[in-house]
Amino acid sequence: MPTPRFTIELLDPARHRREEFDCGVEILNTYLKRRANQEMKALAAACYVIVPDGEPDRIAGYYTLSAATVELGKIPENLQKKLPRYDELGAVLIGRLARDQEFAKERIGEKLLMSALLRSYRESKRIGAVAILVDAKDEAASAFYKRFGFRPLTGSRLFLPMKDVPNWNPLAKEG
Ligand SMILES: CC(C)(COP(=O)(O)OP(=O)(O)OC[C@H]1O[C@@H](n2cnc3c(N)ncnc32)[C@H](O)[C@@H]1OP(=O)(O)O)[C@@H](O)C(=O)NCCC(=O)NCCS
Repeated sequence: MPTPRFTIELLDPARHRREEFDCGVEILNTYLKRRANQEMKALAAACYVIVPDGEPDRIAGYYTLSAATVELGKIPENLQKKLPRYDELGAVLIGRLARDQEFAKERIGEKLLMSALLRSYRESKRIGAVAILVDAKDEAASAFYKRFGFRPLTGSRLFLPMKDVPNWNPLAKEG
């Protein structure tokens, strides 16, 4: 099997060069530089970075995951049927996801999202979570997520039923 050209791992502030990350959206650059590590220490969010294998301290992109909840009543009725009747159910939130502009040709966005889906799916078997949530910051972000099966929930929030993850990332079928 060819060696993967990128690795996805937890942010290590002692090694990964956060200062030079530039996805073109200042709020997402600043989050990585100033807040990601603090939120990891507080156990509020886990931040994963994607690094080129040949340059393992360079950040080509990142995403964050946090535990969240989704209101049963907000989920479309046809998807509610097999879910237990609680007001709120467990979910995973992809709080932020961004790719450095220099890596625009490497399908980093897709790699990050596939990793976030697989990680969330595997965790949902240990700590129940019925959906993956994202907050799309604009129409372009919303279109990106819809491309991978996410549907509108409320406002700018989109969701993907957890049981749909194996349709998008076949590695989830392997458990
Ligand atoms: C959104 C973002 C992560 C996409 O990353 P990327 O590396 O360009 O995405 P990829 O090259 O892996 O694209 C994968 C697929 O999504 C599509 N896609 C990418 N951006 C898209 C967009 N804005 N709208 C619709 N489709 C999009 C690609 O065309 C590709 O489709 P294909 O399989 O048919 O070829 C990146 O543009 C980014 O970091 N933007 C700034 C931050 C941001 O908006 N984050 C979103 C969370 S708020």
